[in-house]
Amino acid sequence: MNPLPSDTSNPGYCELDGAIPLIPPSAAVIFGATGDLAHKKIFPAFYQLMKNRVLPEGFTVVGVARRPKDDGEFRRDIKESIQKLPRLGPFDETAWNKLAENIFYHQGDLSDPASCEGLNLRLKNLPGAPAYGRNHLFYLAISPNHFGEAAARLAAAGLAPDPTLPGFRRLIVEKPFGVDLASARQLNRELLRHFPESSLYRIDHYLGKETVQNLLFLRFANAIFEPLWNRRYIDNVQITASEHIGIENRGEYYDKAGALRDIVQNHLLQLLMLTAMEPPVSLEPESIRDEKVKVLRCIPPLTREEAQTRTVRAQYINGIRNGQPAAAYRQEARVAPASNTETFAALRLEIDNWRWKGVPFYLRAGKSLQTQYTEIAIVFNRPPGVLFAAACGMRLRNNTLRIHIQPNEGIHFGFNAKIPARQALQKLDMNFHYSQEFNTYLPEAYERLLIDALAGENTLFIRSDEVEYSWQLIDRIRQAWDEDQQPPLAYYPCGSPGPKEADDLLARDNREWVPYA
Ligand code: BG6
Repeated sequence: MNPLPSDTSNPGYCELDGAIPLIPPSAAVIFGATGDLAHKKIFPAFYQLMKNRVLPEGFTVVGVARRPKDDGEFRRDIKESIQKLPRLGPFDETAWNKLAENIFYHQGDLSDPASCEGLNLRLKNLPGAPAYGRNHLFYLAISPNHFGEAAARLAAAGLAPDPTLPGFRRLIVEKPFGVDLASARQLNRELLRHFPESSLYRIDHYLGKETVQNLLFLRFANAIFEPLWNRRYIDNVQITASEHIGIENRGEYYDKAGALRDIVQNHLLQLLMLTAMEPPVSLEPESIRDEKVKVLRCIPPLTREEAQTRTVRAQYINGIRNGQPAAAYRQEARVAPASNTETFAALRLEIDNWRWKGVPFYLRAGKSLQTQYTEIAIVFNRPPGVLFAAACGMRLRNNTLRIHIQPNEGIHFGFNAKIPARQALQKLDMNFHYSQEFNTYLPEAYERLLIDALAGENTLFIRSDEVEYSWQLIDRIRQAWDEDQQPPLAYYPCGSPGPKEADDLLARDNREWVPYA
């Protein structure tokens, strides 16, 4: 096991500048503080950060929501939610008490201008105010329909950034950032009117995952991968987000969104960008974000004809999951009985640049599938058709580098090796797993993202142009799906590996999905 946090005695250990983020005294304001996101992700993340002594003295959190509640009741609710989360381990009463003494509740309604003015006054008068001053992080854990209005109300109450005064005002928003290019542009305009890009933190929680961050380390802290990371050595790239869970009481949202908007437009395209980007000029946020955007700019949006043969949309029908009968999507609560919303999407994209021209990137995401896993599989070219490849034909497998985003976070390298005492070979795996190497808790994405937002580090947040370019790609596909009804909606039973049409997508190119292992 590698001891943590700092193994300075290990000659291979190297800590980067800014590895310990400097969080100034600050107050975080959570709008939608009684909602699921706040209770399951945001407050538990603050609690973990307090446990790890990352938060500055007097760090203050104000929860804002409509329901009447006092500070004591709000603290009790939050404590209960945190105690219900087994992943956080035994409850640390001391850390909780330290956090709780600076948690406050503000009853407010964004449609009422007086609410934000009241909030401003409250922020000025809380015990931590002399230390945090005007350092405010606003987190909109509310319906995206209210993002624009919230930014305007904050500004009207004097809570938007003001470069002439000390302190920071930052705004965190959660996906979805619009439902198509037009609405994303509109939302960007509304937010940017009051909060400049540098103070906007658009969360895609995938970027906070350790394994996703490790992609950059893997690619650019090692010399062996980069020379191979291109069309000369890579046959194709496969990005999979296979979810075992269904839509879990989110019928109202999901039936309008579907898999393409819910996961592909954001999480999967983010993974694609990090896999395909050029080395950035530096590790500065803008250098990295510039390179990511360039990848999107090189992906030609599919034509309507291409969408028919290069995309798959499918929906789950009843089947067996976890050994139990599981109902079809159309029978889920708040889903239209004749809904054509896809719960599974697969795409074949290409990146028309020097590095990747001709290498297909296959993306797929689905719900209610057999296995829960997210991974990026880099599939290398087959060896030339002589020697072993000549003898084995297609049975000789391609080398693969598989980055397991979750669960069992790690990296597998698949290679062919001789079976002892036989003139035979077989594909084997060389594995690295975080859980085996590091005896430590893998931080939740939200912990990392909150630290970064408080420290003013925005590499792991989405820039407005990333949002817009990604919608441009997705809109074209939606047009074919919604207007032409092409390709037709396919179906797959709950608990199955997915629709046969997703296999056909690769079979047309004489390829297959790398099986999960
Ligand atoms: C969310 C989607 O953004 O990501 C959900 O709205 C999905 O539908 C979730 O289940 C997946 O996140 P994770 O971290 O569980 O892979």
